[in-house]
Amino acid sequence: QDPRISRIASAIRVIPDFPKPGILFQDITTLLLDTKAFRDTIDLFVERYKDKNISVVAGVEARGFIFGPPIALAIGAKFVPMRKPNKLPGEVISEEYSLEYGTDKMEMHVGAVKAGERALVIDDLIATGGTLCAAIKLLERVGVEVVECACVIELPELKGRDRLGDRPLFVLVNAAA
Ligand code: PRP
Ligand code: MG
Repeated sequence: QDPRISRIASAIRVIPDFPKPGILFQDITTLLLDTKAFRDTIDLFVERYKDKNISVVAGVEARGFIFGPPIALAIGAKFVPMRKPNKLPGEVISEEYSLEYGTDKMEMHVGAVKAGERALVIDDLIATGGTLCAAIKLLERVGVEVVECACVIELPELKGRDRLGDRPLFVLVNAAA
C-alpha cells in the first residue's frame, strides 16, 4: 500500500454518536487541517486520473466540492457541481434518491456536460451508495460516460459498492460503519 494512505487515514477524525446515537461520523475537516495529508489525498487522485482522458469532474454537494475542484484543475478537466435541490439557477435535470429516512434530490445544470464526455464522480465518502448512484444516473441520462467514482472513505459494511453495478469505485481508506 502507498505509504501516504496511513497518514491520510490517521488525519480523518472519527466522532461517535454524530449526528445521532450509534453513528460513527467520519470527519474530513481534520484531514483538511493537515496540509501534507490533504495534498497527498489530491495527489493520489490526480496520479490515478491524469492520463485517463477525463473531461469532467462531477463533485457531489457538499464535501465533493472540497476534493473535486483541485483534482479537476490538476487533470485539466472542468468541474461540475451536483447540487441539493433548488440551488442551481439555470435549467436543471434532477434525480431522486433514498436516504435512511425519506428521499432527497440531486440536480445538475443542463448544458454543463455533453453526450460522449468522460466523467469522474467525486465525493468524500460512500456509505449506502445512494448518493453516488444519483450522480451517476444524472450523468448517464445525458449520455456522459462515468469512467469511475472516487471517494476518500468507504464504509464497506454498508455495501454501497454493490449498488454501483459495474462502474468502478476507487477509495483511499476503508472505515467501520
Ligand atoms: C454524506 C457523505 C456522502 C453521502 C454518502 O453526505 O458526504 O455524500 O452521505 O451516503 P450514501 O452512500 O449512503 O448515499 P450527506 O448526505 O450527509 O450530505 P453533505 O455532504 O452535504 O453533508
Ligand atoms: Mg455528502
